[in-house]
Amino acid sequence: MRWAVLLLVLALVLRADRVLAKDYYELLQVPKGANDAQLKRAYRKLALQYHPDKVTGSEEEKKAASQKFADINHAYEVLSDAEKRKIYDQYGEEGLKQHQQQGGGGGHGGNDMFNFFFGGFGGGQQEEEVRKGHTIYVDLYLTLRDLYVGKEMTVVRDKAVIKETSGTRKCNCKMKLMTRQLGPGMFQQFQTQECGTCPAIKLEREQEPITVHVEPGATEGQQITFFEEGEPLVDGEPGDLVFVVRQAPNTLFERRGHDLMHNFTITLTQALVGFSTTLEHLDGHKVTLASGGVTRPGDWHQIKGEGMPILGQEPKRGDLWVQYTISFPPALNEAQKETIRKMGWDR
Ligand SMILES: *[C@@H]1O[C@H](CO)[C@@H](O)[C@H](O)[C@H]1NC(C)=O
Repeated sequence: MRWAVLLLVLALVLRADRVLAKDYYELLQVPKGANDAQLKRAYRKLALQYHPDKVTGSEEEKKAASQKFADINHAYEVLSDAEKRKIYDQYGEEGLKQHQQQGGGGGHGGNDMFNFFFGGFGGGQQEEEVRKGHTIYVDLYLTLRDLYVGKEMTVVRDKAVIKETSGTRKCNCKMKLMTRQLGPGMFQQFQTQECGTCPAIKLEREQEPITVHVEPGATEGQQITFFEEGEPLVDGEPGDLVFVVRQAPNTLFERRGHDLMHNFTITLTQALVGFSTTLEHLDGHKVTLASGGVTRPGDWHQIKGEGMPILGQEPKRGDLWVQYTISFPPALNEAQKETIRKMGWDR
């Protein structure tokens, strides 16, 4: 008995931990194998996007952005440090905490890291526009059950990677306007291309497993971005890879926002004298359906909190709406008919 209680507590703690501890790679929108340059650029992009000075909107939105900014900074602080990253990869956040308690280096803290990078906001404005490859969109088909409980999927991506090879090529070409004197007082203007010299490149195909974490309550059309995992670009940065959540139809439950609809068939007897039965939910848990009175065809039950999880508002959920259909007996014999007539319902 005591063991059962202990296990239950442990399970709850683990569950809560899963919700709170956001994966650092996920936070920075990069795959586990991301290199330092990719991490750095992903951090830059996100830190600029969520910097408290940049976010406008309601107090609540500002607060959420500020939390996200702190999380992003912390994630980058860990992943940009080879030693900490190794510990995190192997032992997770708990391992890092223990490492730090044992005197394994202090942190920079959010804004320090940001200033270290951008030198505050004043200096960061003259950002150079970098050309970026195309974003690649990939539809991710999920069952309603997957969206209800959440799902972690590994997708092996076969992608083109630009690699240096021997030899040189023209690069960083710019058009320049030149003027040539043809004769006294006669000039001709023309455009010419000036290029630099870079190492030659070749495209290589690489297979990379990418873990996509679909959170419970994910919605149709929701995007999960992997920074710079899209189309490569010569003399620029790769585009992003974006997974788009697609919800496959379900024959038993219909999703309407955060709510679920379900048609449930009861017998005529249940409809008349009441019933207590169970309905199997998407993840297999049982929901009790009960009525003490008469149920008419088309009657509804609203069951609070049995709908879809609401993303970002865990553990809140929508409602389940059960509509009843009544299955009539195929035929009655004379005795049954007589019994029913005696009820006097037609008076
Ligand atoms: C329930 O039945 C109605 C009427 O037949 C139908 O329109 C609706 O799509 C059904 N809902 C579900 C969740 O199957």
